[in-house]
Amino acid sequence: MKAYRGALLYFTGPGQAHYESDGLLVVGPGKPDAADTAGATAALNCPRVLAVGSYGALAPRFAQLPSTHFAGRILAPGFVDMHIHYPQTDVIGAPAEDLLDWLERYTFPHEARFADPAHCAAVAEFFLDELLRHGVTTALTFATSHPASVDALFAAAQRRRMRLITGKVLQDRHSPEGVRDDTVQSLRDTEALIGRWHGVDRLGYAITPRFAPTSTPAQLRGAGELAARYPSTWIQSHVAENANEVRWARELFPAARSYLAVYDDFGLMRERAVYAHCIHLDAADRALLRQRHTAAAVCPSSNLFLGSGFFDYAAAARAGFSYGLASDVGGGTGFSPFHTMLAAYYVAREGQTKQGLGLTPQQLWWQHTAGAAQALGLAGVVGNLQPGCEADFLVLNPAATPLLARKTAQAGSLDELLFALIVLGDDRVVERCLVAGQG
Ligand code: GUN
Ligand code: ZN
Repeated sequence: MKAYRGALLYFTGPGQAHYESDGLLVVGPGKPDAADTAGATAALNCPRVLAVGSYGALAPRFAQLPSTHFAGRILAPGFVDMHIHYPQTDVIGAPAEDLLDWLERYTFPHEARFADPAHCAAVAEFFLDELLRHGVTTALTFATSHPASVDALFAAAQRRRMRLITGKVLQDRHSPEGVRDDTVQSLRDTEALIGRWHGVDRLGYAITPRFAPTSTPAQLRGAGELAARYPSTWIQSHVAENANEVRWARELFPAARSYLAVYDDFGLMRERAVYAHCIHLDAADRALLRQRHTAAAVCPSSNLFLGSGFFDYAAAARAGFSYGLASDVGGGTGFSPFHTMLAAYYVAREGQTKQGLGLTPQQLWWQHTAGAAQALGLAGVVGNLQPGCEADFLVLNPAATPLLARKTAQAGSLDELLFALIVLGDDRVVERCLVAGQG
């Protein structure tokens, strides 16, 4: 058992943060409980939050337990990135006309390099170190179409004791040699990888059709069958990111009601299914997301960089489907959750193409922690510091830069403090990142 004293930030409800200026966080060995729907902690027996609250109230109960004091620091949940591509670490900042041009000119050639297992291993190590350095302790990430890319990332995450979800990309058409896979073999490889990794320690498998235009109906059908056979796996893909992409998907699947409905027609919308972007949707699509308990990964920095459009927060709230924040590296411009939250604020405010909204800093932070965890089906497991949550947490320095020190010292409320961190913060704020109680 270990105790940590410092300011504390955690969530009591959607967009509702609680701040304890002098708090105590007690972490110890925890048994998997009902909230752990992933069923994935038995082997690792991950340390969990045992108690959290004000130092004054909790200290007498844990009087024999020496505590580490992080004076002037904030203990906060690790961030959750709902959509990222580890093989695109080196694609960040590649300029292109739009999504489809960017995929062809930069992304596919980079991903072809993952045919080499040594390259997979090297990028996997760098990628996970970079996530943790930025305070991201859980991610749902694409690999490439090469099974070795999945093995490399899972092995590296397992060594770091991280809760991480990934899967082999399925793309058997409209893709160049080097990333294109074979329909039958791709489904066999997916099933073998599920058997090897899903539920091992804190790892989870995601069935990963890249997007409808690069899969044949046969591959999508096979993916849907696997999703039904392995209901605790995740599903991840892209939808309605870019106008040309939407047109192309509609041409390829003329019988579907919409682009999103293509996935539904193949059994790829269910709990634990996560679709990145969800920009160019209609009301029926949004209702379908809610009805199927399927989540959206909102990728604001990527959408701004590639000029894709603006996620409609007001329409999402009206429809009532789940969503959370994501970097979408390498369409996204970096790993920092602070930068992603700021981009989400800009995107929500945009009021020319849709209704503009001012998100509060507590809503933004929730969307990248407990809200993202909830959208992944991991509420009460990661993304928060409530008793029972796995012990993934950050030590944040609100005075990491001269300007931050000046701004946060003047904060008169929790919203002012969080907004200063969102607008001015980056990896320098993340002083320590503890995964499964270590680090
Ligand atoms: N759609 C299909 N593949 C991709 C990808 O790699 N990145 C993004 N942003 N959109 C996609
Ligand atoms: Zn993506």
